[in-house]
Amino acid sequence: MDVWEAVAGRRSTRAFTAEPVDRAVLVRALSSASRAPSGGNLQPWHVDVVAGQSRDALVESVLARLERGEPPPEAEYAVYPPSLWSPHRERRFTNGEQLYAALDIAREDRSLRLVQFARNWEFFGAPVGAFITVDRRMGAAQWSDLGGFIQTLLLLLHAEGLGTCAQEAWSVHHDLVTREIGTPAQRMLFCGIAIGHPDPNSSVNRWTSDRVPLDEFTTFH
Ligand SMILES: Cc1cc2nc3c(=O)[nH]c(=O)nc-3n(C[C@H](O)[C@H](O)[C@H](O)COP(=O)(O)O)c2cc1C
Repeated sequence: MDVWEAVAGRRSTRAFTAEPVDRAVLVRALSSASRAPSGGNLQPWHVDVVAGQSRDALVESVLARLERGEPPPEAEYAVYPPSLWSPHRERRFTNGEQLYAALDIAREDRSLRLVQFARNWEFFGAPVGAFITVDRRMGAAQWSDLGGFIQTLLLLLHAEGLGTCAQEAWSVHHDLVTREIGTPAQRMLFCGIAIGHPDPNSSVNRWTSDRVPLDEFTTFH
């Protein structure tokens, strides 16, 4: 698969089969993803991979919290800026509508939407999860480096036939995640990544999200 094909073919996968993921593939993809560029070559990313018992224990701990109706701790960062403005607000809204339409969940069905959102904390059924953490002393520039690393990793895993979904949703339960993976207090959780074999029968995996055309985000001078 060449890089154009990989970029065009990757999409967020939100339904997985139970088929295990070959550890050697993960090792190869993570090693290669570290070729992603970063300012000053700081390589500010840290990755924790969970599978098997460590994955299941984490999923259980979040589900138990949800069942107890216990509120999550205060957020460590804002996933979106407050009062998102146009055109980003509309893009987010449309994306959500399309996602729930692909899942056949009606706009008014708030409880089903919440149930679907909670599937994030089961990695959408993926057998492997990865967590990206970063030293709290790092700033916006290094956080942007995390994005480059993550996309490189997602493309490499896609080229290996695996599905992925980056998941900021995990940041809601940052305390449970960091406790489970033993993150030092100096580092904070950015996001999780669900990794597994895409469920070919799932309609949500067939949905392709929109993009705005080139002239809406590029100016040639
Ligand atoms: C850093 C990051 C965090 C994300 N967090 C979530 C998430 O918590 N749950 C989810 O379903 N999708 C999440 N996504 C996926 C986006 O919704 C998705 O990338 C976007 O809608 C574009 O769709 P595509 O990835 O299929 O091209 C995240 C993506 C990124 C890059």
